Amino acid sequence: MTRMLILAALAAALGVSAQSTTTGLSSECTSALAQIALNSSSACLSPSSLIPILTSSSNTSIVDSVDSWLTNVCGVAACTNDTLSAIVTNVTAGCGTELSALGFSSTDTATLISTVQEFYPTVRQVVCLKDGNTNCVTETLTNLQDAVGSNLTLTNIAGLVASGNDTNDTSIPSSVTCSNCTKAAYNTVNTDFPGLLDSENSTLQDQCGSSFTGQ
Ligand SMILES: *[C@@H]1O[C@H](CO)[C@@H](O)[C@H](O)[C@H]1NC(C)=O
Ligand SMILES: *[C@@H]1O[C@H](CO)[C@@H](O)[C@H](O)[C@H]1NC(C)=O
Ligand SMILES: *[C@@H]1O[C@H](CO)[C@@H](O)[C@H](O)[C@H]1NC(C)=O
Ligand SMILES: *[C@@H]1O[C@H](CO)[C@@H](O)[C@H](O)[C@H]1NC(C)=O
Ligand SMILES: *[C@@H]1O[C@H](CO)[C@@H](O)[C@H](O)[C@H]1NC(C)=O
Ligand SMILES: *[C@@H]1O[C@H](CO)[C@@H](O)[C@H](O)[C@H]1NC(C)=O
Ligand SMILES: *[C@@H]1O[C@H](CO)[C@@H](O)[C@H](O)[C@H]1NC(C)=O
Ligand SMILES: *[C@@H]1O[C@H](CO)[C@@H](O)[C@H](O)[C@H]1NC(C)=O
Ligand SMILES: *[C@@H]1O[C@H](CO)[C@@H](O)[C@H](O)[C@H]1NC(C)=O
Repeated sequence: MTRMLILAALAAALGVSAQSTTTGLSSECTSALAQIALNSSSACLSPSSLIPILTSSSNTSIVDSVDSWLTNVCGVAACTNDTLSAIVTNVTAGCGTELSALGFSSTDTATLISTVQEFYPTVRQVVCLKDGNTNCVTETLTNLQDAVGSNLTLTNIAGLVASGNDTNDTSIPSSVTCSNCTKAAYNTVNTDFPGLLDSENSTLQDQCGSSFTGQ
């Protein structure tokens, strides 16, 4: 279930956006997101380079635009805790309808802020990992796209996550799951949050060999 956690987390974020693009966001939410995008403190998320991803047409591969966004995000200073707090506060205030559809209650805002603050540095480190000159997320998405044999688009990546479970993991070749990139991602998460990925320890070792999860 968690074997593809890193990929799934990214894909889920994109999938939620894809869903929102098709179902339409409330005007409050759109306006909150616009406020965030316009606020200079949000430069740490490079919001303007997210637009090509979110507006890509249905059959277009998102890999190139994800790569551009990551290049920008990883090239600017990280968000401060104050900025993260302001962004989460504004999103929960403006996008309450959308978030409650995902099972989130506005009373959870303080918890959400500290959770985001706690995980953000690790997530940023993982999505900015590089293999030589290539971003690791880009490399993994490219490998996955080659393995799947068709473009990774906003629509099919959401479907992949929605239906994704262990049943189909075996269809993803070890060249995708057992790369130096996924190993580095695994070790980064495991260093910052020991035990978080323990449940996939054995399955990762089954597929990738025992050296994969060792430091
Ligand atoms: C949060 O919302 C306030 C009030 O609408 C706005 O002034 C501020 O720029 C927003 N901050 C961020 C980071 O979006
Ligand atoms: C996407 O691909 C499908 C099937 O290949 C095709 O029917 C459809 O017209 C394409 N859509 C766009 C926007 O290119
Ligand atoms: C896949 O995406 C690329 C853009 O990255 C596009 O040029 C190409 O036509 C797409 N392929 C198909 C089969 O839709
Ligand atoms: C950016 O957002 C912060 C926090 O919400 C707010 O204090 C600041 O005034 C905003 N800046 C601009 C230029 O809107
Ligand atoms: C940011 O906030 C988190 C938890 O809310 C805290 O653990 C972390 O130390 C803070 N980081 C900085 C740089 O203050
Ligand atoms: C999972 O596998 C089944 C049967 O092989 C297939 O029909 C389904 O499309 C696959 N789902 C994904 C997300 O690859
Ligand atoms: C995984 O998907 C299969 C069918 O695609 C389903 O039968 C099975 O219950 C799912 N497992 C989990 C844990 O969701
Ligand atoms: C992975 O890294 C090792 C050493 O860091 C290197 O020898 C190996 O060639 C790399 N594998 C790939 C597929 O890049
Ligand atoms: C994960 O694998 C390592 C190396 O084999 C082992 O020492 C550790 O006990 C495993 N952890 C779990 C929770 O299975």
